[in-house]
Amino acid sequence: MLKTIRGTKDILPEEISSWQNIEKTARNIFLLYGYREIRTPLIEEAELFYRSLGDASEVVVQKQMFQVKRAGSEREGDSNLVLRPEGTAPIVRAYIEHALEKKEGFVKLYYLGPMFRAERPQKGRLRQFHHIGAEAIGSESPDLDVEIISLVNRLLREIGVEGFKIVLNSLGCPEDKKKLSGVLRSKLKNKLADLCPDCVSRFDKNTLRIFDCKNQQCRNTLTDLDLKDDYLCGSCQKHFSRVKEGLKDLNINYEISHFLVRGLDYYTRTVFEITHKELGSQDALGAGGRYDNLVRDLGGSGAGAIGFALGVERILLVAKSEKTKEENRLVYLAGMGEQAQKKVLKLLDDLRGKGIQADTDYQDKSLKASLRKANSLGVRFAVIIGEEELKKNTVSLKDMVSGEQKEIKQEQLITELTQNAKLKAQN
Ligand code: HAM
Repeated sequence: MLKTIRGTKDILPEEISSWQNIEKTARNIFLLYGYREIRTPLIEEAELFYRSLGDASEVVVQKQMFQVKRAGSEREGDSNLVLRPEGTAPIVRAYIEHALEKKEGFVKLYYLGPMFRAERPQKGRLRQFHHIGAEAIGSESPDLDVEIISLVNRLLREIGVEGFKIVLNSLGCPEDKKKLSGVLRSKLKNKLADLCPDCVSRFDKNTLRIFDCKNQQCRNTLTDLDLKDDYLCGSCQKHFSRVKEGLKDLNINYEISHFLVRGLDYYTRTVFEITHKELGSQDALGAGGRYDNLVRDLGGSGAGAIGFALGVERILLVAKSEKTKEENRLVYLAGMGEQAQKKVLKLLDDLRGKGIQADTDYQDKSLKASLRKANSLGVRFAVIIGEEELKKNTVSLKDMVSGEQKEIKQEQLITELTQNAKLKAQN
């Protein structure tokens, strides 16, 4: 039997309402905050990610990018295409390519969609997963950092996620990052024996990533170094203070952690992660931060920018199910016999024309089997037309929640469903 690839998932109809609810909530929140949707291709030049995520980032080092090749083709250049591992770099590419910086200057964009990383699958870690994210490009204002973090906070609450934590740090400008890296190297130089093999190799390639290590002994070694945030220059200090004040003014709780450095190279100044303890080892629901030099690094002007992305699969692991379920508004029609089924088809068309969700079984079931099917679909009302009803031009309307059943004239059905049961589809 052919199956899905490890680390990918079918999202079945029974799960889809949770996905759609999250997506609908996200779109509403983005609208409230003035973000507009952007959709970029799933395939991009590998170069885009090499240049933005950095040679030392996990995605590049651990060869997490899926290459795209034409079947049967081994031509040089075919390996230059990859499935996007994240959304920020493609959006910055689009911002530059379509001269949005000249046309609009400051833009606020959002996106929903699949990302691909060739990681070893485990709970909360897939090879195809989905991001809900936003990127605000063209401003260095710390107030924008506050807006982005408050948006994430509101979005998660609206979706029904509780118990998450916002972890915050500032990496400073590139000079500050270098300074921090230098301090760390000099303090760790004589302690390499206390670090795990991964961290020893990070020491040479990308010292800051040692902060990301989950190994308890590495963590203890770092804690003992007693690092302070005095690596930040005056203007980065000021920026960070304003972000912290702004969050306080909005009553948004956060925790400062100097361990937070993030796995992608483009970050500068504010970085944040949303964690949830129920997630286990992959505890990040989402993350984001400033990337003030990325637009310039990819060939645009020096526009400052900040963004975030939440992992939808991880949200689903912790969201409270009541809030992600939608009320079933379906009306299920059952006709007993050929003539009644003909009537059913006409009524279905009338109901759908009035914006009422309606369906029938198309399997010639008995009344009992039809009602059983209606029950299993969790429908709101069943409409039954048997021989009696056909003769009298009536229908039997069964409320599947209360179990009540009444016979009404066929022409009353729409009024009954739209006005009394208020079933008209919501926009
Ligand atoms: P990221 O931290 O690589 O950041 O991914 C963001 C979130 O995507 C993670 O916190 C996690 O919830 C989810 N995620 C990542 N990898 C996987 C995976 N293999 N399986 C399931 N979920 C996963 C970014 O991608 C940045 N582009 C975020 C950003 C936007 N920074 C600025 N703007």
